[in-house]
Amino acid sequence: MTPGAAADVPDEGTLHKHFESVAGELTRFARDLGVRDADVVELRAHLREGRPVPHDRAAEAFAAAYLGLNFWKVAAALQAVRPRAAADVLDLGAGSGAAAAAALAYIDAHAERAPAVVRLTLVDASAAQLRLARRLVLSLGPVLRAVRVETEAVRRPLAAFLGRGAPVADLVLAGHVLTENARDADALLGGIRDATLAEGVALIVERPDDPVWRTLTPALEAGAVPRSEGSGRVSAPEQRPARWNGAGGYRWAALRQPRQPWLARLVRDYFACWATRSTAALARVFTTDATYAHHPFQEPLEGLPAIEAYWRTQVETQSDVRPRLLAVGYDDDRALVEWETCFTRDGRDRLLRGAMTLEADPDRGLVRHLREYYDSTAAPVG
Ligand SMILES: C[S@@+](CC[C@H](N)C(=O)[O-])C[C@H]1O[C@@H](n2cnc3c(N)ncnc32)[C@H](O)[C@@H]1O
Repeated sequence: MTPGAAADVPDEGTLHKHFESVAGELTRFARDLGVRDADVVELRAHLREGRPVPHDRAAEAFAAAYLGLNFWKVAAALQAVRPRAAADVLDLGAGSGAAAAAALAYIDAHAERAPAVVRLTLVDASAAQLRLARRLVLSLGPVLRAVRVETEAVRRPLAAFLGRGAPVADLVLAGHVLTENARDADALLGGIRDATLAEGVALIVERPDDPVWRTLTPALEAGAVPRSEGSGRVSAPEQRPARWNGAGGYRWAALRQPRQPWLARLVRDYFACWATRSTAALARVFTTDATYAHHPFQEPLEGLPAIEAYWRTQVETQSDVRPRLLAVGYDDDRALVEWETCFTRDGRDRLLRGAMTLEADPDRGLVRHLREYYDSTAAPVG
């Protein structure tokens, strides 16, 4: 139901050729920086020991050590996800531009189906990184055949940039940046989702064993937008930067913003009402004449007051409510949700699992029909 990858995508061979020609330019770019071995060794030691990377001072060493590797990780993720050829690309924590370069190669591979102009926004707190990324994108001009790039560099913390909450791009990239923002990863992921235009894709790439996935996994689920995940390893010798001697594992997650982002917001609001047991907030989810069928063979509840009364007896009596969204799908005015919720009632832990359809009124932006089927474990859990 959710709009997926565009049908009109380049084949594997064409894509790979484009990635290779851009990667060749990246290799030249990194080599011409003339970074000393000692600086790369020092940067690697920083990272190995988990010390914060001085991004301004280490910008060139970072490019020498990781530009090619991180480019291929994002390239592999794009190859798997196949988003549409974006006209607006946002690279968050752009560094020296590895993720942006992969996105430009991917878009360029769409040939005449690619947008003539790609507006690329690079966001980073480091001025030195942004300068490098700008230079890198300029150097790609001759190898990009179909697209011209208009670049804007924004030197700002991600939280401040995403705080506006406005959708800005149809391809949003966050490569190896949430790891060093683990404490705010949940909020940043929400910002990343909301920065993605309707039918656009947000792509997160991190090391597979990075502890940040412990925060990202539940946050990805709670976002109520269709998602996919994958992992792999950059292994071909030509995909590794010179002087590279480490592992090249990666894990990615893609969020697909539905055609109607407000429907996903309604789903989040509905489950927030459940998690917080808030009857008052139901008015922000349902129309006053909404129907609510909580059992397949019983008459549906009719009208918001009836839904609120049901909520008072069934939901307000629960505690420690922890809903999970197992899967979501959308069409023009409908959301399908598979869910699971743990809660405690009368001192006993319970587990419900179910599926529901929410039909919304696009004019009012509220749910007018809810239909659900659920069951509980035969015995209370715990
Ligand atoms: C490890 S580098 C990754 C660069 C690039 N995305 C890649 O995959 O190679 C992380 C970059 O994110 C930037 N960064 C980290 N946290 C940030 C924040 N909270 N706000 C803005 N920039 C941030 C750093 O300055 C650095 O350039």
